[in-house]
Amino acid sequence: MKMVLQRVAVVGAGAAGLCAARHILSRPNSFACPVVFELTDNIGGTWCYVERIGQDDHGRPIHSSMYRDLRTNLPKEVMAFPDFPFDPQLSSFLPHQEIQKYLKKYCHAHNIWPQIRFNTMVEKVKPVVLAKEVEKNTMWEVTSCDLSGHQKTEIFDSVFVCSGHYSEPYIPNVPGMKNFKGKLLHSHLYRYAEPFSGQSVVVLGAKASGLDISIELVKAGAKVTLSHGRPRLTFPLPSGIRQSSPVVAIEDNGSIRFQDGSVDQADTLMFCTGYKFRFPFLDADQLGLKIQDHMVSPLYRYMMPPAFPSLFFISICKMICPFPNFNCQVQFALAVLDGSVSLPSRAEMEDDVHRVLRDKVDRGFQQRHLLDMFEDQWEYCDMLARTAGFPPLPPVIQGLYKEVWRQRQVHPENYRSHNYRLISDSQWELLK
Ligand SMILES: Cc1cc2nc3c(=O)[nH]c(=O)nc-3n(C[C@H](O)[C@H](O)[C@H](O)COP(=O)(O)OP(=O)(O)OC[C@H]3O[C@@H](n4cnc5c(N)ncnc54)[C@H](O)[C@@H]3O)c2cc1C
Ligand SMILES: NC(=O)c1ccc[n+]([C@@H]2O[C@H](COP(=O)([O-])OP(=O)(O)OC[C@H]3O[C@@H](n4cnc5c(N)ncnc54)[C@H](OP(=O)(O)O)[C@@H]3O)[C@@H](O)[C@H]2O)c1
Ligand SMILES: *[C@@H]1O[C@H](CO)[C@@H](O)[C@H](O)[C@H]1NC(C)=O
Repeated sequence: MKMVLQRVAVVGAGAAGLCAARHILSRPNSFACPVVFELTDNIGGTWCYVERIGQDDHGRPIHSSMYRDLRTNLPKEVMAFPDFPFDPQLSSFLPHQEIQKYLKKYCHAHNIWPQIRFNTMVEKVKPVVLAKEVEKNTMWEVTSCDLSGHQKTEIFDSVFVCSGHYSEPYIPNVPGMKNFKGKLLHSHLYRYAEPFSGQSVVVLGAKASGLDISIELVKAGAKVTLSHGRPRLTFPLPSGIRQSSPVVAIEDNGSIRFQDGSVDQADTLMFCTGYKFRFPFLDADQLGLKIQDHMVSPLYRYMMPPAFPSLFFISICKMICPFPNFNCQVQFALAVLDGSVSLPSRAEMEDDVHRVLRDKVDRGFQQRHLLDMFEDQWEYCDMLARTAGFPPLPPVIQGLYKEVWRQRQVHPENYRSHNYRLISDSQWELLK
């Protein structure tokens, strides 16, 4: 008997959306070709560098937060989709252009291009409950809009939300901000360092963006105050970067006040304070979800609202190896859809989510960090692989990831000059 093929909509053609499309296309007996909706005229999402900031020619917000000289902070050996290695000729830490090229190659290799509808923004994703037995009979109405403003609503069996979460700046409330006389900026709007030459810049936030941008700024001749609430960084920072406690207010005269009581002036205050979740096309209440700046919950296995387990959020976790993580999530999601994984009841899934989050709170995770994975990512990916019966991530990924993490703490400026090679599923070597 020929099965009816399931129709899947994919929101976004970044790494997560492309990965979803790739695996859907490899299961032609279960799934029709996916429809991939992409807001911009290109693939790659984050990896699609656009020099312009603010809005594009069509008045749509620029999605990517990429800056001109960014190099990856994971080696290509760890970053790659496990079934699609980077060109062996390339060095380990790549400029962003190489990731964009890699994703284009991935598209060609898997014939994804024809499935993508470019310049098409998803405006609404709405469950349509066709029968009393909610869970098995939900269909999805996806309303999208092309550049001419033409709206279209189509029906799908499932939706993969792959719209990314490093676009919408999170800017903490700093009292007196309107008094600041210099330039206020968020890392989302930062492109290159030259304009800051000779300026004093206070960078707030010292994670990946804050650190990396501070280093770019001093190299270009800026005077940088790296303001943050983490324990004092003990690794060697370039001279010219001074650490300080967090910015807590702007005084009436425009000076910046820090938590330790000190006050200073600056030409620019740059928020490297991270990003917030935003899914303007979803109705959280209707889905039984709470969507906050730094949290989406409940999501079973960090993917599905228990009330609507044919909606999948791919790539919601933080502090992970992104592409390998997406690859596991997508394969698990498709195993749910094709019936090879059967889900527990809605109540059981909700209990499970609460148990997982309670456990993280007990281990000291703050509320805004509940989606951070760190060490948990390996067991998480393993569990998805075991449950859905696909090959787990080779242990060498974890091994090399940990080594690079360690190197970053020792040489935040130079760790990218190392080159690695994978020797086997469990071993890597440092190339001389
Ligand atoms: C500055 C920066 C540096 C990073 N460096 C690294 C690194 O070195 N290594 C690493 O592994 N990861 C890195 N990351 C993480 C990176 O975000 C992931 O690697 C990955 O690109 C995320 O892919 P995604 O598909 O989830 O989201 P995105 O890449 O953001 O893609 C989402 C796509 O969805 C589209 N979209 C959004 N809304 C809609 C809508 N309503 N309708 C239609 N389309 C829509 C967007 O246009 C976009 O193309 C970095 C992130 C940032 C911000
Ligand atoms: N390839 C690269 O080199 C590179 C470069 C940049 C970014 N990235 C990636 O891009 C993603 C986003 O990174 P990100 O650094 O922009 O965001 P992030 O990881 O969310 O970090 C934001 C930081 O800002 C801090 N913060 C927020 N509000 C603050 C306040 N009021 N006072 C003091 N500190 C405050 C946060 O502190 P808390 O921790 O206390 O919440 C956190 O440390 C990550 O995946 C990262 O790996 C990669
Ligand atoms: C601005 O005001 C603060 C107190 O509110 C003061 O400490 C600081 O010296 C003033 N700075 C200038 C440049 O006047």
